Amino acid sequence: MATLRLGDDAPNFTADTTEGRLDFYDWKGDSWAVLFSHPKDYTPVCTTELGRVAGLKPEFDARNVKVIGLSVDTSDSHEGWSQDIEDVTGNALNFPLIADHDKTVADLYDMIHPNASDTMTVRSVYVIGPDNKVKLQLTYPASTGRNFDELLRVIDSLQLTAQYKVATPADWRDGDDVIIGSAVSDEEAKELFPGGWDAKKPYLRVLPQPNK
Ligand code: BEZ
Repeated sequence: MATLRLGDDAPNFTADTTEGRLDFYDWKGDSWAVLFSHPKDYTPVCTTELGRVAGLKPEFDARNVKVIGLSVDTSDSHEGWSQDIEDVTGNALNFPLIADHDKTVADLYDMIHPNASDTMTVRSVYVIGPDNKVKLQLTYPASTGRNFDELLRVIDSLQLTAQYKVATPADWRDGDDVIIGSAVSDEEAKELFPGGWDAKKPYLRVLPQPNK
């Protein structure tokens, strides 16, 4: 599989998970989705990450985002490990975890980087849109747990920019001012944003977040 790039179709697959066998596209429907990989079951950083994401389920639900994890171990191994995740973090798994023991999905999504490890996945994150296109990808090494607040922040930006012709500046958070997209002329901007904007530079036009 060639490397996936932003805007590519997210490949479909069928896989065994902790919630039974599923077809990714059928399971996802027209929601947004986060697909994220874990190097191996019964490892410390992964345990904290899965519990954290389970605790954030209401935040993902509020954004119409379905979450699915992946680890290249068996369903039996996932079952045993899920009890540990609940014991340690207080959060039971509340989303499917793919049992990718033959690495089919990991290969499809290029989650094994052989110069890092040829048996475990790296920590990949894919955000996939309602149109099944890849909107974001992140790659972390096995030793660094991901920042899931940042993932929610990026999803907020992706969902905003999918709806309005705006972009979001450095360190933007939901509710902060936004930037008019550079493809939008001043004439078009007057129609789209009749309340006006603050032109810090001709190409840097700032206005309050449209849906707030
Ligand atoms: C971990 O989840 O702690 C981990 C997994 C694989 C390699 C290093 C750390």
